[in-house]
Order: sequence, then C-alpha cells, then structure tokens
Amino acid sequence: MIAKPAPPVTLVIFGATGDLTRRLLVPAIINLTRSGLVGDSLHILGVGIEEGDDEFLRKRLDDFLEQLRKGGEEETHKDDAWYDLRERISYISGDFTKDDIFDEIGRRLGPNDNAAFYLAVPPAFFGPIVEKLSDHGLMEETNERFRRVAIEKPFGTDLASARALNACILDRVEESQVYRLDHFLGKETVQNLMTSRFANMMIEALWNNNYIDHVQITASELVDVGSRGKFYDATGALRDMVPNHLFQLLAMIAMEPPNSFDAEAIRNEKSKVLKALRIYTPEEAKANAVRGAYGAGSLDGRDLPAFRETKDISPDSRTETYVALKLLVDTWRWAGVPFYMRTGKAMTARDTEIVITFRKVPFAQFRETEVTRKLPPNRLVIQVQPDEGMSMEISIKSPGPLVDIEPVSLDFRYADKFDISKTTGYESLIYDLFIGDQTLFQRADGIEAGWAAVQPFLDAWAANPNAPETYAPGSMGPASAEDLIRRDGREWHELGVILHKPRG
Ligand code: BG6
Repeated sequence: MIAKPAPPVTLVIFGATGDLTRRLLVPAIINLTRSGLVGDSLHILGVGIEEGDDEFLRKRLDDFLEQLRKGGEEETHKDDAWYDLRERISYISGDFTKDDIFDEIGRRLGPNDNAAFYLAVPPAFFGPIVEKLSDHGLMEETNERFRRVAIEKPFGTDLASARALNACILDRVEESQVYRLDHFLGKETVQNLMTSRFANMMIEALWNNNYIDHVQITASELVDVGSRGKFYDATGALRDMVPNHLFQLLAMIAMEPPNSFDAEAIRNEKSKVLKALRIYTPEEAKANAVRGAYGAGSLDGRDLPAFRETKDISPDSRTETYVALKLLVDTWRWAGVPFYMRTGKAMTARDTEIVITFRKVPFAQFRETEVTRKLPPNRLVIQVQPDEGMSMEISIKSPGPLVDIEPVSLDFRYADKFDISKTTGYESLIYDLFIGDQTLFQRADGIEAGWAAVQPFLDAWAANPNAPETYAPGSMGPASAEDLIRRDGREWHELGVILHKPRG
C-alpha cells in the first residue's frame, strides 16, 4: 500500500535554532519531501530566542546541512527537496514565556490553517507553552482545522511531576491533540516487534510463560556523558532510558494482541502491560536493582575521565550511568517470567537488543547419546541497533553417526533486504503527527504507569547514601549486575555479539 501525502499543515517549532531541529526534524522532513509524503502545503514556522528573520533560520540550516554533507554523513541533503522546503521556512524570534510571540504566531497562521506545535525545548517549558497556546486560542480545533502539540522527552522526572504535567496539559487540550514522543518508537526495528509477533504463528504461539523462561532488554551505549553533564547529573540512566525507551520495548514485547492496529486499540494494550508491572516495596526495589557509574579508564582507544570528574558533574554526585533491574509483569501470560533490563553509558559496545530465552526441553531422551553437555535453550535475539535484525538460535544434530547436537542460529539482517540506513528515525513520527495517527506516541496513562513502576527505585536510592558502584569504561557494567541475574541461575547475553555478520 502506498502511504498518502500528509494534509496541508504548518509545523511550528519552538526551539527552532536548537540541535534537535537541525539534526533530526529538518533532515526527516527533507526525507519526507523527497518521498512525496509531504508536499508544497507544508510550512515550517520556527520560533527561537535568537534575533533574526526568515533568512537567518534558512541560512543556519543551510550551513548545518552543508557540514553534514562535508562530513560525508548525508550526501543528498543538498538537493531539490531541501531547496523546495527552504522557501517554506519562516522564523519568529522572541521569548516564548511572553505573550507577544503567541499573538504573532496567531497572526501568521490563518484561521483555517492546520498546525502542529513541536516543543523542542527544555522540559520546564512544556506546560507553560501549552498553557499559552491555549490561552491564545491556538489549540482550538474546528471542522476546518486541526491543532496538535508534540512533546519531546523527558516527560516528568518522577511520578508526581509526570502526573502534574499531564494534568496541566489535559486541563487545556484533549488527549487526542497530544503527541508525546519517544524516539525509540520511530525505529523500524521497534515497530517491527509487533509485526513479528502478530504476523507469525510460530512466534506468537510460544509467547507466554509456558514456553518462555525470561526476557532481557538491553540498551548499552559506547558513548559517555560527554558535554551533557548538566542534564545527565540531574537525570541519570534510570530516568533517561527506563520509563520511556526501555518500557516501550517491554510493552511491545509483553502486550496482548490488540483487536486491531488502530491507535487506541494498541495503546490500550500497551498501557495495560505497563499497569501490570509489579510495584515493588522499598526493600524489593533495593534487592532488584543495581546502579553503577563509570570510573576513569580507556574507552575506544582514548582516555576517559571518571563520570564524577566530568565537566558539570558534581564530584560527590550519586547519579548512575548504568542501571540493571529485574522486573515482573503481573499478568496471566507473564506470571513467573522475569524481565531483566540494563542500560549504561561508556560500555563495551553499542548494542540495543531484546533476548527471549525459551524454556529448556527435557534432557531424559538424550541420556544415552553423546549429548553430555547441557542442552542450550532456544533463544530469539532481536537486534534493535546497530546491525538491525533477528536471530533464532536452535539446536541441530551435528553430522556423523552419533547423536550429538550443535547450536546454530538462523539469521535475518535488515540490511540484506532493505535500506533503512538513510533515515533519521523521525520520519514516521512526523508523518504520523501530520496525519493524526497516535499509535507511535505515548498516552498519559501509559506514561504514568511507567513512572509508577520506576518510582520505588528512585525512592530506594534517595534513601540510600551509598554512591553507585564503579565500573570500568568499556566493560559490561558493575559486578553486582552479574549477581542480580546469576542468583536466579541465569546469565546476561554477551554484549556486542552481533550474531548476524554480513554475508560476503
Ligand atoms: C536519549 C537519551 O533519549 O536516547 C540519551 O537522552 C541516549 O542519553 C539516547 O543516548 C539513545 O538513543 P539512540 O537512538 O541513540 O539509541
């Protein structure tokens, strides 16, 4: 099926001179223009604090795209799609805590113009901007026009603040107008999780506690905190990655089949799973979490200062750069199946993956054979990034007269069949914002359910004066993370083992 072009719309970007706009939003819109999914009826109205006129923003973007081109990262930006779009970009400078700028936006938008307001600004501005948009009548919808607001993460910093932000926003606008972004949902491999489950009987039929032993969800990063010290010291790995990105992966893995692929049907099922996450007592939270911070060392061939010696990080910071959790999903399907999660910076490899380990088959019938070692369980490894793909690990008989087994893996690499490398990951999110499809956006109840499950860890750590455990840069994380899973007789999947090597 060929996707329809988006309807006419003005994308009003708050924070138009920032990094997100030039690195992701504009390149994604260029890609959408190139593929015909947005056309001449798309306009961009940038809003930013820096002085300047329309040409100021256009020139800024020119320079940035030129840099990308020179860096060889993207060769095709300097093409007709960009020049076409460039003419439809305008800019208003001003302070978006003041009313004038909203009056000006009102003047620039025609009364029947569709508009999507994109808040690419620090989170403290999310609530106030929505209030002002609403006070100025800019969020009112009619039969002729839609008005939507897209909000970046972090959405809240704990349960109370997420609830307060939702309350503030939903006091002014309808849930159907709010598009809470989680950029993981823009990744093809993440969207594919649902399709892989619900389009394949041989996967979905085994997808429950009768056959699955446990699930591991990992987002390990090579990058360190770098220049993001200020943000990161106030945030930490748990808040930065778990209630949003990793819980989105968990929800896709653990949700019940929706009645249809309608946005609300899917969001209902995802919210149900997040609401079923076990809310730990403070003691349970302590026992089921490990936090670490990287020390000084060498990473990827360069010297890395310890996290606590990084610019803008307090030397006695107790912020974690690594977290591992054991979580339980209290539903009929998942009773007794632990979900282990881990994420960290400055680790041994960039590797976002989901590993489903199935239960072992009975050994009895192999007693009289050469199979002396333990029979390895089947595993399904879903490689979210890099080298997107999937591996199914099974056991086969090794050739010869005796019965002996050999583990092998059946591999699928996206790159062997499709080219998904040239996208930013924001294309479907922006297109869906324009066509009014909320499937890939988070709903208020889902966000709050995620924070509710994370809150006991935040509370347990706030009450515990110990600093996170140090781990060496380039490692798999702190030693206690090994204990967390080993005490259950299980092992973490090795990081950076991308099973599907290019065929050559
Ligand atoms: C962001 C976090 O939301 O996601 C970053 O703030 C993290 O700290 C990033 O590095 C990871 O996203 P990706 O797409 O690079 O895996």
